[in-house]
Amino acid sequence: MKWTRKDLLGLQDLSSDEINLILDQTAPMKDIIQRDIKKVPTLRGKSVINLFYEPSTRTRTSFELAGKYLSADTSSLAVSTSSVVKGESLIDTGKTIDVMGADIVVIRHQASGAPLLLSQNIKASVVNAGDGFHEHPTQGLLDMFTIREKKGTIQGLTVTILGDVLHSRVARSNIWGLTKLGAKVRVAGPSTLMPPGLAEMGVEVFNRIEDAVAGADVVNVLRIQLERQQKGLFPTLREYARLFGLNQARLALAQPDALVLHPGPMNRGVEISPEVADGPQSVITEQVTNGVAVRMAVLYLMAGGGLVDVPR
Ligand code: CP
Repeated sequence: MKWTRKDLLGLQDLSSDEINLILDQTAPMKDIIQRDIKKVPTLRGKSVINLFYEPSTRTRTSFELAGKYLSADTSSLAVSTSSVVKGESLIDTGKTIDVMGADIVVIRHQASGAPLLLSQNIKASVVNAGDGFHEHPTQGLLDMFTIREKKGTIQGLTVTILGDVLHSRVARSNIWGLTKLGAKVRVAGPSTLMPPGLAEMGVEVFNRIEDAVAGADVVNVLRIQLERQQKGLFPTLREYARLFGLNQARLALAQPDALVLHPGPMNRGVEISPEVADGPQSVITEQVTNGVAVRMAVLYLMAGGGLVDVPR
């Protein structure tokens, strides 16, 4: 199987074979980042531009490092000090980067669909690093890689996603990807933070967090997106923590070897208690490491025109 797509816009469009191809390519990339000298010449002569219209620590830094570890020329456009603040449109900004010779543009944007619009207007490949409430495909991929690495498979696992699904592009990418790879996906959270259409996505919706966590193999806790909340969707943060936060007592209802994931950044003491976040079942720091590896695999496949052997 070869990678043939120009762009990576979401997991909804990908086949299970395409998802598995990226996950399979991630393992050798992880070997590279665990070496003393984390550098291979694979993408020498290729350029990767980060275009982030929203804040990011993990995604932006890991795309930058992923490109550098593969010897690509990487550059991050600081949108707040760019001509975007003078009113330049997304398409004009994209075309400007395109004619400078960009091979891959990684974009995060507050508007769902912005990466698609960009991809339709530039020659460079476009990678979606999170768009509005739509998708965050590389987060979904790194979550799946982390689960597969720990559990050996995704097929047949019960994965519970907790929290603010309404505003979560992470949840959507996880749901599309996990269901394609054969997981049973459950969601739970305040009913005001549950979007319509979840059942049509193949997801089981629970009213009580305890029922959703019971017997789960994986619990993926979403961040309460304080910057996107409208007033009145839940009473207070303290109330949210009491009713919906993942604490040790609730985690005890899951399988004894259940994994705890969180995409970060965490609101400690709100959606996840510090004991759980830092506890033995948490794989949150491994998710971050795997994020670099999965982004290396994505850049490699997209720039490599379907090459599948990673030079050692
Ligand atoms: N998980 C995630 O997207 O984190 P950042 O916003 O820090 O990139």
